[in-house]
Amino acid sequence: MSEALVVCEAAGRTFGRGNLAVVAVHGATCTVTPESRIALVGPSGSGKSTLLQLMAGLDSPTSGSISWPAWQSGPFQDPSRAGVVFQGPSLIPSLTAVENVAFPLVLQGLADREAILRATESLELLGIASLADKLPEELSGGQSQRVAVARVVTSAPRLIFADEPTGQLDRASADRVIDVLLEAADHLGAGLVLSTHDASVAARLDAVWRMRDGELGVPA
Ligand SMILES: Nc1ncnc2c1ncn2[C@@H]1O[C@H](COP(=O)(O)OP(=O)(O)OP(=O)(O)O)[C@@H](O)[C@H]1O
Ligand SMILES: [Mg+2]
Repeated sequence: MSEALVVCEAAGRTFGRGNLAVVAVHGATCTVTPESRIALVGPSGSGKSTLLQLMAGLDSPTSGSISWPAWQSGPFQDPSRAGVVFQGPSLIPSLTAVENVAFPLVLQGLADREAILRATESLELLGIASLADKLPEELSGGQSQRVAVARVVTSAPRLIFADEPTGQLDRASADRVIDVLLEAADHLGAGLVLSTHDASVAARLDAVWRMRDGELGVPA
């Protein structure tokens, strides 16, 4: 097995205190490698988004530990390390679709022209090139979701987390999003973890991790 990108050791996340405490994730133990193609499934409220945020380094565990052996300083010291497709709206409202996708590349130091070119290619892959010049407020939920997927794959991360990336899509668009995420993961040598409520999406990944009431079940 190749080098681990993320290692969770009995990682837990509790929100609030005392009577109001909610244990969103109980001691989760799991590893993501560059070969991982994982579907994270479970009922609403079972802790999927919380676990993804922990593994992406956007939130800290309140018990146990999480490490990123490939990087001593965690994933977010460098935008090319981890990319997250968020469950909710995440586009920058004042930028067009193509500018949203190009923005991380510009932050990585690419010239504007080259960044827009690459962003346009990603929108084409996802079948939404015609939306390039629209503002987020002019996009449907499913269209915004696909722009967010394009933004993540374009920035060439080594870890891709996607939180219900097909939640608002029809079957054909959902299949295309999964194609793009799997191709990007293969091409980049990136680990992929995506949460989904859709059994046919989960069936396209190599492994299924199940969450129930904050407990993570990882197949042996
Ligand atoms: N910031 C927060 N403050 C308090 N409680 C939270 C917070 N974020 C999540 N929770 C709680 O943690 C639990 C897990 O939430 P989470 O969003 O991880 O579930 P999920 O599996 O992603 O659900 P869904 O399928 O609906 O997206 C829920 O009980 C939720 O109410
Ligand atoms: Mg969620």
